[in-house]
Amino acid sequence: MSVICVEDIAHVRYSAPDLPAMCSFLHDFGLACFEQAGRLYARGTDGRSFVHVTEPGPARFLALGLRAETVADLEKLAAHEGVAVEDLAEPGGGKIVRLTDPDGYSVEVVAGQAKGEAALPPADPPRNTVAAKPRQRATVRLDPAPAQVWRIGHAVLKVRDFRRSEQWYKERFGFLTSDEVEAAPDVPLGAFMRCNRGDKLADHHTLFLAQLPGELGILHAAFEVANLDDLMLGHQHLKAQKRQPAWGVGRHIMGSQVFDYWKDPFGNELEHWTDGDLFTAADPPQKMPLSALLAVQWGAPNPMFAGKLPPPQGLVSFFLALNLRIKRLLRRKPKESAA
Ligand SMILES: [Fe+2]
Repeated sequence: MSVICVEDIAHVRYSAPDLPAMCSFLHDFGLACFEQAGRLYARGTDGRSFVHVTEPGPARFLALGLRAETVADLEKLAAHEGVAVEDLAEPGGGKIVRLTDPDGYSVEVVAGQAKGEAALPPADPPRNTVAAKPRQRATVRLDPAPAQVWRIGHAVLKVRDFRRSEQWYKERFGFLTSDEVEAAPDVPLGAFMRCNRGDKLADHHTLFLAQLPGELGILHAAFEVANLDDLMLGHQHLKAQKRQPAWGVGRHIMGSQVFDYWKDPFGNELEHWTDGDLFTAADPPQKMPLSALLAVQWGAPNPMFAGKLPPPQGLVSFFLALNLRIKRLLRRKPKESAA
């Protein structure tokens, strides 16, 4: 039983040395920006006050924001952690509990923020397929434009010790594993985790913790767009604006979503996605191989495999598994010698 069950991701927070440059990118990405108290905020169309924050400073990731259902939940969490519930002096107000995870990431748990009017995109036009042709005597005409970002959906954090971080996040926030990814049998490298919403539907993943080699940091934050046409219009727009592509378009295996990754001017990766899987708390966790993380159902190959001489996926799995096994062994040693 976890301390609370968060209902969703709330925001991601970065710092950057040039807020106008960040604002210009976020506009092309499909978010609406505004400045308040020296910070740059960006929101989607779901009515939430903000989903992306940039503070002035050197380019880096600052915090992951999660949303609790109620302020009472924040109080429960704060009591468990021995910290205070603070007023959130940002757009939408509300309350916040600030925590630090085992890798030193700041985790900002918020509740009670004011929510504005949502601007739902128009209903999808009927699609004609071989199986059914509901669009009759009507055309499809799309105007070039940035994607219509509806909401923030998930973030991916690199961690030093997956099991340690998994326990920390699950104990406090109630996350459930959708897919645990293994570099080799019994060598987990991470998991796609979703919010525990009981019998309500939740995204396949709100948080993915990944124990991968290299520096710690956020791998990407992801934002839901209106539909497939909207994602492709967004791709065209970002390309026309000469923004830096990272990976896409394609359809993932775990989560099933159609994805499109871009880099902001400071090297942070942001994803557009649509048509992802939804599960309830009753759906059991799965174990999946690393190859399912790297491969796509269709579309652009993972950049790691897009070169002229791509490394075989089996070789990547082997070395990653070896790396994880060695780290696991090194972590055990002090305990064994102390016993
Ligand atoms: Fe993603």
